[in-house]
Amino acid sequence: MLEKYPDYRIICLDKLTYAGNLSTLKSVMDNPNFRFVKADICDRNAVETLFAEEKPDIVVNFAAESHVDRSIETPEIFLQTNIIGTAVLMDACRKFGIKRYHQVSTDEVYGDLPIDRPDLFFTENTPLHTSSPYSSSKAGADLLVLAYYRTYNLPVTISRCSNNYGPYHFPEKLIPLMIANALNDKPLPVYGEGINVRDWLYVKDHCKAIDLIIHNGKVGEVYNVGGHNEMRNIDIVKLICKELGKSEDLITFVKDRKGHDMRYAIDPTKIHNELGWLPETKFEDGIKKTIRWYLDNREWWEEIVSGEYRNYYEKMYSNR
Ligand code: DAU
Repeated sequence: MLEKYPDYRIICLDKLTYAGNLSTLKSVMDNPNFRFVKADICDRNAVETLFAEEKPDIVVNFAAESHVDRSIETPEIFLQTNIIGTAVLMDACRKFGIKRYHQVSTDEVYGDLPIDRPDLFFTENTPLHTSSPYSSSKAGADLLVLAYYRTYNLPVTISRCSNNYGPYHFPEKLIPLMIANALNDKPLPVYGEGINVRDWLYVKDHCKAIDLIIHNGKVGEVYNVGGHNEMRNIDIVKLICKELGKSEDLITFVKDRKGHDMRYAIDPTKIHNELGWLPETKFEDGIKKTIRWYLDNREWWEEIVSGEYRNYYEKMYSNR
């Protein structure tokens, strides 16, 4: 955003939970148009103080507890951050006035699609039908956003995107986990049979969609974001092995995720027709760029996998 809109002032509010990492912001920290504030979106005082100081005109809520496996272990924090945090942010928007509140949501609010019906896709009219505490908390937040639009006329938009991948992805997620493990010659834990399908989108294409929606999207509307790039987990893991020159013998099939969604597939017709959005990065190129980034930025992820994350990994994966 700072590159594309050098005149914008960008304020980043982040709690810096386990998944946050200040070094990710290194290149913009000294930019006079950027301010970082460490705070929790559930902290009404902190949020209101910041709104009073900065009077933002656009608020984009990227903040979420986002990992499905963690939500199965501890649902409550997901309700807190994802639902209460959304309400606190929107209350501040009502109090101080804004031009736009944008909610970054997920395709997981639609539940899943059967593997044997490749003709079916999620549209914006697909009913919400969630499977995990994580997706339920995101669906709850979406309903709240639409309620604030109808009840208070808050100028809102929502985007529901498919699985992202790319640089700076926390190593608990499929693609960075497999890259990091493969580079360390550790087993590659594939849940169940590895036949679940996800619709992968390069992170910058998601960001470009959000940029278009906050500037040109219609208030009160939901936009699905996805690039018609469905892949089975096992095929992604094999591809990562191939790109890194590692043996597929590292692949280990482990106990399946509880309530595991089978297939996600987005129909992005609306955002394409209304806002002209199209993904620009092909998966073949995006995955190469991503692997390159993890090879070139080992210190970024090695610091993570050697810290607190080790306990999480042990708990989730040993004896699985
Ligand atoms: O669809 C969008 C969603 O994508 C976002 O809303 C979520 O915040 C994000 O975490 C992601 O959810 P998934 O559950 O699809 O992502 P994850 O990377 O956890 O898993 C992708 C697939 O890979 C899923 O079928 C589970 C499988 N998997 C995952 C891990 C971490 C494995 O087989 N082994 C693993 O170790």
